[in-house]
Amino acid sequence: MKLNRGKSYFTRLLSACFVAFLFLTTPIVAQDAAAPAVAAPSVSAPPSGAASPEAVASGAAVFKANCKQCHAINEVVVGPALKDAHKRWPNKAALANFIKYPQKVIDGGNAYAKGLYDKYKQYMPNHDFLSDGDIDNVITWIVNESENPTVVATAATGGVADAGAGAAVPEDNSTLNVVLAVLMVVLLLMVLILIIFINLIARYLRQNTQLDEVDEEVLEGKINFWGFLTSTPIKAGVTFLFVIVLAKAGWDKVYAVGIQQGYAPKQPIAFSHKLHAGMYEIDCNYCHTGVNKGKSATIPSVNICMNCHNAIKTESPEIKKIYRAIENNKPIEWVRVHNLPDLAYFNHAQHVNVGGIECQKCHGAVQEMEVVEQYSSLTMGWCINCHRETVVKAEGNAYYNKLVSFHGEKGTKAMKVVDVGGLECSKCHY
Ligand code: HEC
Ligand code: HEC
Ligand code: HEC
Ligand code: HEC
Ligand code: HEC
Ligand code: HEC
Repeated sequence: MKLNRGKSYFTRLLSACFVAFLFLTTPIVAQDAAAPAVAAPSVSAPPSGAASPEAVASGAAVFKANCKQCHAINEVVVGPALKDAHKRWPNKAALANFIKYPQKVIDGGNAYAKGLYDKYKQYMPNHDFLSDGDIDNVITWIVNESENPTVVATAATGGVADAGAGAAVPEDNSTLNVVLAVLMVVLLLMVLILIIFINLIARYLRQNTQLDEVDEEVLEGKINFWGFLTSTPIKAGVTFLFVIVLAKAGWDKVYAVGIQQGYAPKQPIAFSHKLHAGMYEIDCNYCHTGVNKGKSATIPSVNICMNCHNAIKTESPEIKKIYRAIENNKPIEWVRVHNLPDLAYFNHAQHVNVGGIECQKCHGAVQEMEVVEQYSSLTMGWCINCHRETVVKAEGNAYYNKLVSFHGEKGTKAMKVVDVGGLECSKCHY
């Protein structure tokens, strides 16, 4: 009984230190786990101290699911840039009401809303399917994002920034990480110093004071490390940490649903673009015969492969797969890399033939890829951003020449895709 007292004294002290240490280091772990996400909310506390990180995070999710196709923080997409939007409305309730029922507010005679409508020429859809909590959170996120923008891993999309990715201002939060790391080291040192201190006191007491039996037992009580490791606070702490990391990983997964950037599935035949399009410089159109003619670029049939492989590398096991496909009269089941949802319409001929855009602008340096991967995000923001920035190739096109001269009269500079209707919903949506 007395012995127990001695052991649990040290055990409890150490456990308490360890748990405190865990709590203080959790933000670092969580932040590291968040790093690879495309636009995960930053875990750092907002400056005002009013918004909880959970509210901001769930606001970010609401934004991503419902608003991202039309809005970004710092740029106009389909609707206005949302930076400081909360300051343009009298109060949060008015803003929430507008987000919920924009058409009602615009038609109801709100001068500011009417002004927005006149400028953007379309109603934002109603968001009455969102709960008040969701709308609250998305506003909190907008406020937070206006005040301290999240760092965005700017993926190289051939100079075309993804409007949907949120704040476009690249910012470095490595200083925060350094501070947290230093804090962690300092804490570790403090635990060490504490242990040394306890030892010193024990030795001092033993040498300089008259100890009775009970005190002696307290001092003699060795630190029971197994007891320490299996004590409830430690177990709780470790479980806590584990759950946090797991939840974070799950959250990031949910976040990435729908965006397949970087997707590079294994193909049934080890076909290399690096070899064919890079080293042997075979033209993309030779195999992807649809690019100049139609909607789909098309994947080449085995006949095209056979133009060469009836003679080249006939003994290769990979090439034999082509022969086998022909014998069995079965097409090769290539795994599709790019996949727009059915609701969106994209036409290759429009972009490659009419627009004169190079494959690499959208697909990256395919001629250097051993395995094809999805290079661009293929989000609506991505399409729209390019349509805002790209000047239409009008030379030698009678239809456009007329449009350009008309455009010139209006006093605008270059004619962008926007100006020929590149932002109209119906052009991209059936
Ligand atoms: C289909 C496109 C579209 C979607 C989706 C959309 N908005 Fe909008 N939003 C607009 C347009 C357009 C306007 C300009 C007002 C108008 O004409 O209705 C606007 C205006 C706003 C404004 C006012 C901005 C200002 O400067 O005062 C806010 C805030 C806003 N939207 C938030 C949201 C939020 C939050 C969501 C998601 C829950 C969302 N929007 C979804 C198109 C959209
Ligand atoms: C010798 C024929 C050949 C040539 C030349 C070729 N490709 Fe391909 N390409 C293929 C085959 C076969 C596939 C399907 C297998 C795969 O994904 O690797 C493919 C797939 C692709 C895909 C992914 C399609 C999907 O599933 O979403 C893209 C993008 C692509 N090619 C672009 C290019 C570009 C750009 C060039 C020119 C730089 C090019 N290809 C040249 C044969 C060719
Ligand atoms: C214009 C000619 C041409 C066409 C068309 C072509 N290839 Fe090739 N392919 C080559 C050449 C050249 C090599 C390199 C041979 C070497 O390494 O000696 C090669 C190599 C390969 C290899 C590597 C074989 C190995 O074991 O090293 C594979 C796999 C392959 N091709 C698949 C395909 C497929 C699938 C198609 C049809 C989609 C295709 N090729 C169409 C010319 C072609
Ligand atoms: C403006 C952007 C853009 C350009 C330029 C572009 N592509 Fe694509 N490509 C896409 C998109 C978006 C998809 C997905 C289409 C879908 O899923 O319906 C795609 C899909 C493909 C596919 C898969 C099969 C298909 O047609 O759906 C191939 C192969 C392909 N592209 C090849 C090419 C080649 C080769 C070029 C150059 C000659 C090219 N692309 C130029 C955007 C582009
Ligand atoms: C790299 C820039 C770029 C990207 C990315 C891009 N486009 Fe385009 N798009 C153009 C250009 C340039 C034109 C104008 C072609 C022309 O008519 O001269 C165009 C035209 C169009 C048109 C016809 C517009 C009209 O008024 O006739 C549609 C529809 C379209 N794009 C859909 C899409 C979709 C859907 C996506 C995304 C999946 C997309 N585009 C991505 C550059 C781009
Ligand atoms: C330049 C082409 C383009 C234009 C213009 C365009 N969209 Fe889209 N839109 C897309 C593409 C591509 C997707 C699919 C994006 C994805 O899968 O992430 C999409 C997706 C959507 C979605 C579904 C979002 C989701 O998460 O499933 C809605 C809703 C939508 N668009 C509404 C609109 C409205 C409303 C307009 C007119 C203001 C519009 N779009 C104009 C290309 C376009």
